Parts: sequence; structure tokens; C-alpha cells
Amino acid sequence: MNKQMTHSIDESVKVPLNKVMLQDCLEGMRALPDNSFDVAIADPPYNVSKGGNWSWDSSKDLPGFGGSWNKVMAEWDNMPLAQYLDFSMAWLAEVKRLIKPTGSIWVHGTYHNIGITNVAMQLLEVEIINEVIWYKRNSFPNLSGRRLTASHESVLWAHTGTAKSRKYHFNYEDTKELEFAGDLMKAAGKQMRTVWDVPNNKAKSELAHGKHPTQKPLRLSKRLLTVSAPPDAKILVPFAGAGTECVAAKEMGFDFLGFETDAEFVALSQRRLDAVEPSLNV
Ligand SMILES: C[S@@+](CC[C@H](N)C(=O)[O-])C[C@H]1O[C@@H](n2cnc3c(N)ncnc32)[C@H](O)[C@@H]1O
Repeated sequence: MNKQMTHSIDESVKVPLNKVMLQDCLEGMRALPDNSFDVAIADPPYNVSKGGNWSWDSSKDLPGFGGSWNKVMAEWDNMPLAQYLDFSMAWLAEVKRLIKPTGSIWVHGTYHNIGITNVAMQLLEVEIINEVIWYKRNSFPNLSGRRLTASHESVLWAHTGTAKSRKYHFNYEDTKELEFAGDLMKAAGKQMRTVWDVPNNKAKSELAHGKHPTQKPLRLSKRLLTVSAPPDAKILVPFAGAGTECVAAKEMGFDFLGFETDAEFVALSQRRLDAVEPSLNV
């Protein structure tokens, strides 16, 4: 595994806000000063583009993993395992540096990558607060009948403070009082649990400007911010995709910065952002 590089940063650099940069997030984040953001929502490549055939080193084909996860089939989503661990360590180290000790880091994943993210966080001494299970009750059935129908993803919630000094912002009272349309597991007045029933279907407006193969539902991103964003938060989105997390931030009145390497998706994010009417609507 590569040692994390140390590099000097010009602390006077002005952090660009409210845009999605067409840039590799590693390169982009490395140029920014420490503690620039309050919350990061990272939806990284899950490393599942194996076409039903995979091996740990990508040098030979083996049956495995499978299931209906082959939605992406993109180069950015197919790394040898050791490279994926290095990649996860590298971007998480930058996210750790950029998020304030009072802030939060959320990382999406499935069983393919979430264990690696968990290990990377522990190696980087980023404490995991909770693992949230996003229950997708309307998930697509397993047509082969050889596996259980995959109907959840994980989201790790972590903070950058020390175990002795946990200062992360948690909107506990809000989360307790709220109920969420369609979530049969959360009633107003009850503590929010770690299993969230969030339908994966998207509103027409979420798909009106184009599609992304792994686009998250807006209501999920908004819930992550509802839990963890302080007033006037700045939100970091390393893997913007179709811009869902950026749109959620803008709709909730927060500043944000996204990175995305595919120009088509940067343009899609921008179209969605241009259509946002800011309002506090969770
Ligand atoms: C899982 S998708 C994010 C989808 C997003 N959550 C949404 O709802 O639209 C990951 C995205 O990261 C982009 N990506 C991959 N490697 C990247 C990198 N090093 N820096 C920035 N973006 C990257 C891919 O092009 C892809 O669009």
C-alpha cells in the first residue's frame, strides 16, 4: 500500500463554491486548505464493473460477485483490488484533511467496497459513527433465482475528531422529530435508527435533465444532510456523478463543491443545479 503523500498547501487559496469542477477529486482536493468543509458525501466507484467475471487482480476471469450490479461497466469502476484500496486511502485521506473536526463524512457502498472503505477509515483513524443500511424496498428482483434479491446498500457515517473528543455535529432533535414520506421504519418522535426505508425511485424532475447509471435518490442525500449539516454548512462532494448531493445541498440552502471526471456528467449536474429553486424541504 502506498504511504499517504504529504504536500504543502497554500492556506490562502480561496475555496471555489457552488460548482462541479471537471477534475479528478484527488487533484482538486489536494489544492484546498485544511478544514474547508463541514460535511462530505462520497459516492465513489464501488468497483463492480466486472461484467460477471472478476478476479482480485483483474488478470484472469473467475465466476463470482455477480448479481445485478453490472449497471456501470465503466473503466473508472474497475480497479485491481490493491489499487482500489490505495485509491480509497488516498481520497479518504484528503477528505479527512478537508472536513472540520466538528464535521461528518458519509460514504456510500455495497458489500463489494464497503468493507474496504471501513478498513481504509480505520487505517486513517477516522472513527465510524454508524453504518446506515439503506433499505431499497422497491429493488429489482433477482432474475436468476440463484441469489437473494439485493435490497440494501450501506452508508458509513464517520467523523474526523479523535475518539477522546467527539465534536461532530448531529441534528439529534430534528432527526427525532421528523418523519419521512414512505419510510415505514421512522415515526415522528422516535429516534432515527440505522435502517432507512428510502424508495430508490426518482421523481420526474430528478431525471428530467439526463441520466447517470448510479444516480442516488435526492431524498437519501437530503436525509444525510438533515442528520449532520450545521447551519451554513459547506458540503464537499468528491464524486459528483449526476450532481445529486450537490442538488440536495443547494435545495437545502448550503454551499457545496463537487468534483467529477466525466464532462457529460458535469454538464448534467450543471443542468440540474440551474433548475434548483432553493427551499428548505427535506
Ligand atoms: C457512483 S457515481 C456518483 C453518482 C452520484 N451520487 C449521483 O447520484 O449522481 C461516481 C462518479 O464518480 C466519477 N469519478 C470516478 N473517479 C473519479 C475521480 N477520481 N474524481 C472525480 N470523479 C470521479 C464517475 O465518473 C462517476 O460519475
